[in-house]
Amino acid sequence: MIKEYIEQNKDRFLNELFDLLRIPSISADKDFASDVNKAAEFIKIKMVEAGADHVEICQTAGYPIVYGEKMIDQSLPTVLVYGHYDVQPAVPLELWHSPPFEPTIRKTEIHPNGAIFARGSCDDKGQMYMHLKAFEMMMKTNSLPCNVKFMIEGEEEVGSTHLGPFCINNKEKLKADVVLISDTSMIANDTPSIDTGLRGLSYVEVEVTGPNRDLHSGVYGGAVANPINVLAKMIASMHDENNHITIPGFYDKVIELTAQERADLNLAPFNIEDYKKDLEISDVWGEKGFTVYEKTGVRPTLDCNGIWGGYIGEGAKTVLPSKAFAKISMRLVPNQVSHEITDLFKNHFESIAPEGIKVVVKPHHGGEPVVTPTDSIAYKAAAKAMETTFGKKPIPTRGGGSIPIVALFEKELGLKSVLMGFGLDSDALHSPNEHYGIENYYKGIETIPYFFKYFAEMSK
Ligand code: BES
Ligand code: MN
Ligand code: MN
Repeated sequence: MIKEYIEQNKDRFLNELFDLLRIPSISADKDFASDVNKAAEFIKIKMVEAGADHVEICQTAGYPIVYGEKMIDQSLPTVLVYGHYDVQPAVPLELWHSPPFEPTIRKTEIHPNGAIFARGSCDDKGQMYMHLKAFEMMMKTNSLPCNVKFMIEGEEEVGSTHLGPFCINNKEKLKADVVLISDTSMIANDTPSIDTGLRGLSYVEVEVTGPNRDLHSGVYGGAVANPINVLAKMIASMHDENNHITIPGFYDKVIELTAQERADLNLAPFNIEDYKKDLEISDVWGEKGFTVYEKTGVRPTLDCNGIWGGYIGEGAKTVLPSKAFAKISMRLVPNQVSHEITDLFKNHFESIAPEGIKVVVKPHHGGEPVVTPTDSIAYKAAAKAMETTFGKKPIPTRGGGSIPIVALFEKELGLKSVLMGFGLDSDALHSPNEHYGIENYYKGIETIPYFFKYFAEMSK
């Protein structure tokens, strides 16, 4: 019945997603504020059409949260579906092969039946919209087996600043048994997996100041410290020869995995040659003694996300700049605490600044790491749902990205999450030419109702 419904509505499902993808809802850029709100309106309309009750746009001090629900029986369990309608900026635009907000289907090696190229196609509009279509299908075929609530936000890509307070102020409204999220990746299209953890985040911006003004690099060069040179050296010094992070205390709270846990993590298939080929790199990098899965799943990192200063225009300008800047992110693992790591970074960065150089460290948003259970009814229901539609048991993995609100759901609402994602790491999230496999989109729509079915059955 599910397959039939999808077959009959395939084109409409795709066209509706295309309409959503055409809205450039970039939360980081104020110029797109009206588009972000437009995306919220779109979700609201589609939620009503799909059959949800009490659909509302909940205003916050930032972008709104779209809420809707279908309560069929108080005695049945309730699934809270979370997703986000905001997207990352699309720059650099010139690297896109088709415009980021004009969804286009192209075949790729990994998606031979076509992928939808557009900003947000995978992260998270495409994955979030699967839930609305799966819900529509359950409503239209009279097969919704338990209660459902939707909470779709518009600030995930900028740190979910206002969602925490919203949760705290709406505990009754958000009462549920589990949170279901599709905003992560699988190992491969023929290798389903479920993330059982996400990394946390500390994000800082640094400003390094030398002389009080830009100087002639010939007249002063050699006698006055260059802030760009200094900043580059400071950043480089934060990894040692084993690519271990040198900030004192950085690893103090990191939970080391047992040999068994490490072995389990590395059971998941991984082809390093494919990995390198996809990225056109001749070798991988990272902390000595750990595999790629460990490096991205259970080990913390420090990466410079942007660095600027001096002259970057056309041609050459011989200048010794007054200032240099960088944005630096640290991915955190259990039991590290975001604000503690930010403090450690700040203290360390200030302490390594050479004489005569002023530094300012400005903290941005952060988030806590999270581990989700594999012995819960919800995890088992998700695993069985994926097994039903993929014909293979999903492998538990650890996601390298962050969805800071997941730790907050646990802390403030007492709710565990299931991270049933259908994207691939190679779908270029946050990069030019982001895409989402058409088959992945339909597969998600097909799998979600099974999750509801099994979750309701197993909860009895
Ligand atoms: N959906 C991603 C997170 C993700 C992607 C987790 C793939 C696991 C696998 C999310 O939208 C995201 O990009 N989060 C940000 C954090 C946020 C605070 C900006 C991230 O991870 O950089
Ligand atoms: Mn996302
Ligand atoms: Mn994202």
